[in-house]
Amino acid sequence: MAEYGVEGALRHHLALSMENLQTDYVDLYYLHRVNEDVALSDVSLAMGKLIDQGLIRGWGLSQVSLDLLKEADQVTPVSAVQNLYNMLERDCEQTIQPYCLENGIGLVPFSPIASGFLSGQLHSTSQFEKVDDVRNWVPQLSQENMDKNQPVIHLLNQFAEAKGVTTAQLSLAWMLAKYPNVVPIPGSKNRARILENLAAAQVDLAPVEMQRLDTALNELTIHGHRGTVEVENRQVGYNRATHTKWTN
Ligand SMILES: NC(=O)c1ccc[n+]([C@@H]2O[C@H](COP(=O)([O-])OP(=O)(O)OC[C@H]3O[C@@H](n4cnc5c(N)ncnc54)[C@H](OP(=O)(O)O)[C@@H]3O)[C@@H](O)[C@H]2O)c1
Repeated sequence: MAEYGVEGALRHHLALSMENLQTDYVDLYYLHRVNEDVALSDVSLAMGKLIDQGLIRGWGLSQVSLDLLKEADQVTPVSAVQNLYNMLERDCEQTIQPYCLENGIGLVPFSPIASGFLSGQLHSTSQFEKVDDVRNWVPQLSQENMDKNQPVIHLLNQFAEAKGVTTAQLSLAWMLAKYPNVVPIPGSKNRARILENLAAAQVDLAPVEMQRLDTALNELTIHGHRGTVEVENRQVGYNRATHTKWTN
């Protein structure tokens, strides 16, 4: 970064991405992590120049707090925020989501199925065999927390059965019905599940169903966090979006 300066570094990485993607512009260019050693306003300014030059159509942030989002958005309007959001972790409903709705910013929830837990197919005895599978360090997926969070799965099973959908689909349909600016990005290496998740867009939840579901969810206690396991120490982490520390 020091070698190029902020704008030069962005241009360098964008050029590499465009070469890899065989394209001459990028629709949405993310700053995937905020670098605390670099002023975010400088990054935002440089993103604005890339937009003006037609190299990117818009830019986004990930794992970002409301304060940082506002700081960035004031310099060059932000198109999308990729933060953690699912039925187990709803902090952003109170933090960044009101700002996003008010300012026309898309919310792109990562881990929308809570790393697979909301599919009801993960159990406290599930083994994540690959050593680099981040689910090995997600505190919410510890044996103890998965057992304690089973009431969520019972609740989802009831609603999903009544609608004739899977619980994974219900968890995605719920956030799509709740907000107009939400575009979840469920991850799967399995074709059938990818198609299953895509079909969630066709599941209609009526306002009365949403109200019943939200009321029931509000009554449940959620155990454990997902944390920010990709980038942080695996024993103790810091959640930038909520400014909280967590431990395994
Ligand atoms: N911005 C960030 O900081 C950040 C952080 C984490 C993740 N992400 C991104 O967010 C996306 C998804 O997040 P994620 O993979 O952590 O969590 P997720 O989408 O909540 O869950 C993915 C897990 O659930 C399983 N799964 C998916 N659909 C399923 C279904 N219908 N039934 C049963 N199991 C299902 C998948 O297993 P199979 O593969 O076996 O189907 C996978 O293990 C990825 O694109 C990832 O790159 C971004």
